[in-house]
Amino acid sequence: MFTKSQIESEKLNPDSTFFKEALAPTHEASKLLCVLDNLGKLPIDFNGEVFIPLLCHPNSNVRRLAVINVGKLKDEQYLEALTTFARNEADSFTRREAISAIGRMRSEKAIGILTEFLSDADPKVVLQGLRALLYFKEHPEVEEALVTLRDHPNEMIREHFENEKTAKLRSVTEQSHPMSLDVLKNVIVCADVQETLPLIPDESVHLTFTSPPYYNARDYTIFQSYEAYLDFLTSVFKETHRITKEGRFFVLNTSPVIVPRISRAHSSKRYAIPYDMHPRLTDMGWEFIDDIVWIKPEYAAKNRNGGFFQHRKPLCYKANSVTESVMVYRKKTGRLIDWNLKQYDEETVETSKVLGEYEKSNAWQINPATDKGHPAVFPIELASRVIQYYSFKGDLIFDPFGGSGTVGRASIDHDRYFFLCEKEPKYVEYVKKTWNESMFCAEKLKILSLTDLKNSITER
Ligand SMILES: C[S@@+](CC[C@H](N)C(=O)[O-])C[C@H]1O[C@@H](n2cnc3c(N)ncnc32)[C@H](O)[C@@H]1O
Repeated sequence: MFTKSQIESEKLNPDSTFFKEALAPTHEASKLLCVLDNLGKLPIDFNGEVFIPLLCHPNSNVRRLAVINVGKLKDEQYLEALTTFARNEADSFTRREAISAIGRMRSEKAIGILTEFLSDADPKVVLQGLRALLYFKEHPEVEEALVTLRDHPNEMIREHFENEKTAKLRSVTEQSHPMSLDVLKNVIVCADVQETLPLIPDESVHLTFTSPPYYNARDYTIFQSYEAYLDFLTSVFKETHRITKEGRFFVLNTSPVIVPRISRAHSSKRYAIPYDMHPRLTDMGWEFIDDIVWIKPEYAAKNRNGGFFQHRKPLCYKANSVTESVMVYRKKTGRLIDWNLKQYDEETVETSKVLGEYEKSNAWQINPATDKGHPAVFPIELASRVIQYYSFKGDLIFDPFGGSGTVGRASIDHDRYFFLCEKEPKYVEYVKKTWNESMFCAEKLKILSLTDLKNSITER
């Protein structure tokens, strides 16, 4: 085997015969892979001919790495070899690498070949061809070829066209991404969220973290049917999507609920809220990012398996529920997260860094919280993590179902602003009282009625 530093120094010597020997196709695959994998960036005068015999190697990893290395040279002289290879290669990951290598040449001679692969059976090969052809999108024959993909059955290919459309529609006068309206900062609106949201301008908030009312599980909100409940959440989260800035996050804490049986002759009913909401959220333009599970200690769960513990009869098993979902979504956009990061100045990025210990897995073990003033609060630790992982200092954090104001507290703790909505005056009063009593930034808190909010937005 060769060392990385040996490979590194040999590749800088244009007269070296080292690679001709080291990459002889007769070597064992492991030896070839070691060299191919450690080549890194190649000098422009590197002799790519050493990779060509490996394009016929029986080991698909060798073929793939050989193609990737040819691609690094971006040299038209390998167009023919790569074209023949791509036409005959059965492994679609490797075929995609070949298309990528051809695309990197940025050669007009490759247009016909790339177009040929737009009808490949594997969508990831098609997508690679599409990306490569975009470089030549001003050419009429390329434009014509790309149009045929608009109704492609694959969602990622169709999405590409949607992203292009929204990019064209993007306003040039849009508000600076890190900014938010002063009239919304550190505000609790005491009103129904459905009446509040229409007053809020587009793209006003950076992050939403919320735990909505549980379907008829507590007395603060009663819905006629589960469908009506899902429709209510759908309308709130559609508006939340509208008021969210481009590419920013929405984090939803819910869990299945159980509506108890009315008598021993009936069974209780369980509603899978997170699973039922998910398709509605993606349909309205929230892109699924992560499924985090909040895990509570076992003592926190209501015991559901007392009967089973006694009789142990199959079908009667009921798991004690120690988890809740924390589903993470991003407002769908063609722009990468990198674009969002670039909207902030260096100091904000630096001071917003999540330093020290952080949660590496999607299983977050956090004790539940109880509060004498509100029946269903989430722990401040949960809100703190979400806010630190998904927003920057100075951002505006929204909670449409503000309750006892946990999102408000966590926002202040982490130098963000909050904008909450809570329809029950008693909970809003409770926030005011507890913040006053604990001397927690009460002077920052502004409590507005719907009319106050309307006036302050129109007067700004
Ligand atoms: C699960 S609790 C949220 C608790 C909050 N996360 C906390 O830690 O305190 C849901 C809250 O939504 C409020 N709510 C229900 N329907 C609402 C509506 N249409 N508009 C505004 N708030 C509403 C309820 O009064 C309740 O306080």
